[in-house]
Amino acid sequence: MRPQAGRVRGLDRGSTLAIAVSKGRILSEFRILLDRIGIKPAEDPETSRSLVIPLKDRGLRLVIVRAADVPTYVDYGAADFGVAGKDVLLEYRGEGFYEPLDLDIARCKLVVAGKAEPLPRAGRLRVATKYVQTTRRHFAQKGDQVEVIHLYGSMELAPLVGLADCIVDLMDTGNTLKANGLVVLETIAEVSARLIINKAAMKVKNASVKALIAELAEAVDQTATDRKPER
Ligand code: ATP
Ligand code: PRP
Repeated sequence: MRPQAGRVRGLDRGSTLAIAVSKGRILSEFRILLDRIGIKPAEDPETSRSLVIPLKDRGLRLVIVRAADVPTYVDYGAADFGVAGKDVLLEYRGEGFYEPLDLDIARCKLVVAGKAEPLPRAGRLRVATKYVQTTRRHFAQKGDQVEVIHLYGSMELAPLVGLADCIVDLMDTGNTLKANGLVVLETIAEVSARLIINKAAMKVKNASVKALIAELAEAVDQTATDRKPER
């Protein structure tokens, strides 16, 4: 049975706030926001093998998890905060967290892509993706019957080898699609990483939680302002 949010046993939770985050592009961009508000990790999370990284002087710590697992840790209260892509949040079914802030990092789009030729009209379209729920929802809303093929990576290969008619995957520069002779057929969602917060933590640790959200919101605004001249 699911433990009550905020009541997970195991790690000594103490009075610190835990932030679940995945290594790679999300952590590297999130660190820039933390840096802006003067928060630095006690050791380099990218090179450390430790999965719990204290942040200096602030009663905060990072817990390092897989990108798709971030909502689960926060939903169950094993982490107070999480940083997760909107793509991951759209797939997740739990309701144990709020999504108070768009961090405006790890920006990309969730798209339907396929070969630059008309999709077959007869029969059910076969769509390969790791975003099974979002894909089902998207085509159901359009009234299209599709067969969803669940893959864990290298989605771009599926139309090339005849496994699927099209794919639902992330696109940023478009280089991966282009290198595989695929084009965007439709955009499903604009994606960026969001700050999520466990509902119980929001109640119980309200003051410190709200203070951190406000500081991060300020850092997001500053980053946007600094970026403006480039656009
Ligand atoms: P894992 O490494 O655990 O298999 P993953 O491949 O989804 O997971 P990342 O590639 O680091 O991990 O992606 C994490 C998040 O970053 C995604 O959920 C998405 O929100 C965002 N993202 C993924 N690909 C891109 C991209 N090409 N450009 C910008 N953001 C991206
Ligand atoms: C992501 C995504 C695409 C690629 C799109 O893969 O799954 O393949 O980025 O980015 P682009 O439009 O800039 O080429 P990623 O690099 O994260 O590899 P992974 O799926 O193996 O994690």
